[in-house]
Amino acid sequence: MTRGRTLDDLVRHGRAKLATTDFGAAPREALLLVARVLGLNEAQVLARGRQEVSEEQHVRFVELLERRVTGEPVAYLFGEREFYGRSFRVDPRVLIPRPETEHLVETALSLPLPREPWILDVGTGSGCIAVTLALELPGARLVAADLSFDALAVALDNARRLGASERIFGLRTDLAAGLDLERFDLLVSNPPYVDRADAPSLSPEVTAYEPHTALFAEDRGFAALSGLLDAALELRPGRPLLVEIGAGQLDRVVAGAEARGLEVLQVVADYASIPRTVALARPEAPDTTLS
Ligand SMILES: C[S@@+](CC[C@H](N)C(=O)[O-])C[C@H]1O[C@@H](n2cnc3c(N)ncnc32)[C@H](O)[C@@H]1O
Repeated sequence: MTRGRTLDDLVRHGRAKLATTDFGAAPREALLLVARVLGLNEAQVLARGRQEVSEEQHVRFVELLERRVTGEPVAYLFGEREFYGRSFRVDPRVLIPRPETEHLVETALSLPLPREPWILDVGTGSGCIAVTLALELPGARLVAADLSFDALAVALDNARRLGASERIFGLRTDLAAGLDLERFDLLVSNPPYVDRADAPSLSPEVTAYEPHTALFAEDRGFAALSGLLDAALELRPGRPLLVEIGAGQLDRVVAGAEARGLEVLQVVADYASIPRTVALARPEAPDTTLS
């Protein structure tokens, strides 16, 4: 009697195929794919290596592996990505949430906000920032804005699935155009900030699969950032704009802020020590009351 394929066989085959890619797929991903197909975690796959798989499981594994080998990101293969401890549905309509964006969320949560703040998230994409803030700040109400209807559909689906839809309102708009920004206590944004000229240096995983409207901005990557600095002038004094920036963009963002009379409140670096999150606001009028 011939022996069927085992979990170990699939992992070995996966590692060998992934090693042939030129975009840096990690060998560990073979384990992830097998675990996904079997509905196990990685430790269970390792522990049950000699367990045989059905033909259906094998076919499903090969299908996922082939897609991965062509460069399709794991998050799109699985249709989800974890962000701030929650699973967000993602597909090629939205950027895959990045770990560095969690710094923006952390910074937002550290700000002194009113108990029931109104928060605007510009370029909401999957809704990872808006939904996380809504769930971490139970009194908050969020406007999740995006230029892309497709992205808004994903964001609102995530809001519904994660139980935040009652306090999140989707809005299709170009940056903050047409919004009364005086109503908001905080404007957060992870805008597109990649210079198109840098596209060749990005992984094909990114450029071939993620939406270009989520990645690239005109004016060497600064178009959306500049628009957000303009929007910050319409917030009330002291009400912050919290924005994610790309590597090497801090100086120009600070210069743009200063030219507009905005105050840089905070700069937060990511795990690689790259300045990533900048908090800015119009200065509050000095307290002139006599003591
Ligand atoms: C870098 S992605 C961020 C997505 C998500 N907030 C995150 O952090 O993962 C930028 C998002 O901004 C949206 N976007 C691009 N240009 C825009 C504009 N002018 N106005 C509003 N949204 C825009 C894109 O559709 C995309 O969803």
